Amino acid sequence: MKRWIKWGAWFLAAGLLLVVAAAVLGTQLGERKRMRHVDVSVQAVAVPDDPASLERGRYLFLSRGCTECHGVNGGGREFINDPNGLRVAGPNITPSGVVAGYQVVDWVRTIRQGVKPDGRPVFIMPSEEFNRLTDADVGALIAYLKSLPPLPGGAAVVELPLPVKILYGVGVIPDAAGTIDHSLPPQQPIAAGVTAAYGAYVANMCMGCHGAGLSGGRIPGSPPSWPAAANLTPGDGSVMGRYPDAAHFIAMLRSGKRPDGSAIAVMPFESLGQLDDTDAQAVYAYLKTLPARPHGQR
Ligand code: HEC
Ligand code: HEC
Repeated sequence: MKRWIKWGAWFLAAGLLLVVAAAVLGTQLGERKRMRHVDVSVQAVAVPDDPASLERGRYLFLSRGCTECHGVNGGGREFINDPNGLRVAGPNITPSGVVAGYQVVDWVRTIRQGVKPDGRPVFIMPSEEFNRLTDADVGALIAYLKSLPPLPGGAAVVELPLPVKILYGVGVIPDAAGTIDHSLPPQQPIAAGVTAAYGAYVANMCMGCHGAGLSGGRIPGSPPSWPAAANLTPGDGSVMGRYPDAAHFIAMLRSGKRPDGSAIAVMPFESLGQLDDTDAQAVYAYLKTLPARPHGQR
């Protein structure tokens, strides 16, 4: 009997040691990955100053998701505060914030490649969704952000629970810089209009959560309380049957509710509700052309 207790104690100690070792290793791997240097070469874009471009930049800022994490005034905003220890706030990106010393190339590198001026990857920010923004759109966005009234404070907050650190460290949860093909030339100009091609351009902003193939599934690194992203292709579990026409789809984007009135979780409706008719109808036209994929294939 005594021997068994002794053995049991040894097993328990060994188990605990393993857990501690995994925690230390995972944290180190995660830290090392966040501190890694990502080499990308980027070209500056023209930053316009005419009123139409500034208005375009404002529209992109409000509709493409930036405000969910940086606030409508650009001063920074808490995006996730989950009881399991995941807390993320985007930093102040008004002229007095983290971007105070930014050159045009720094804006381009952060927005399109997910890499900060010091060469480190941005965490949480879905630059993979912005990588395909045309030169004109990136330029308009920069012009607008530079025109924002400066605000005080607002450093980025990135606090991760241990399992997320480990999964990030071992590569199960990727960051934008690790997902983006940095060798792709910039997206060619594309005419706005209710076409599937322009819809694909706008729908880049859905990929971070619904996956590159838009078949949804669990969002890597998301809190356990978040439901899986929906399958936007006609594959199994597709939600598109609820949206027989663009009008139903647009009503959903602007209300945050399904046609039956129930609320949809997680989706960034503050931004999605700002999509204008052309952009929203184009996204719908594009979703209609998607090939079927099983739910969760991303
Ligand atoms: C889901 C949240 C999220 C969205 C959406 C988002 N960001 Fe960020 N952004 C962050 C976080 C978090 C950081 C801090 C990242 C870090 O330091 O690792 C950041 C950092 C930045 C930085 C500063 C990087 C530095 O030098 O420290 C800029 C500039 C920026 N974002 C611009 C944008 C723009 C423009 C958009 C929209 C096109 C956008 N962000 C969308 C979360 C987001
Ligand atoms: C921040 C993550 C995120 C982004 C960005 C996002 N979605 Fe979603 N989406 C989700 C999640 C999570 C669900 C599942 C919500 C639920 O089950 O309550 C969902 C559900 C949906 C649904 C199903 C609604 C229903 O009837 O149940 C549609 C349609 C949809 N998203 C379309 C889009 C489109 C189009 C975009 C881009 C323009 C987009 N989403 C961007 C996370 C996101």
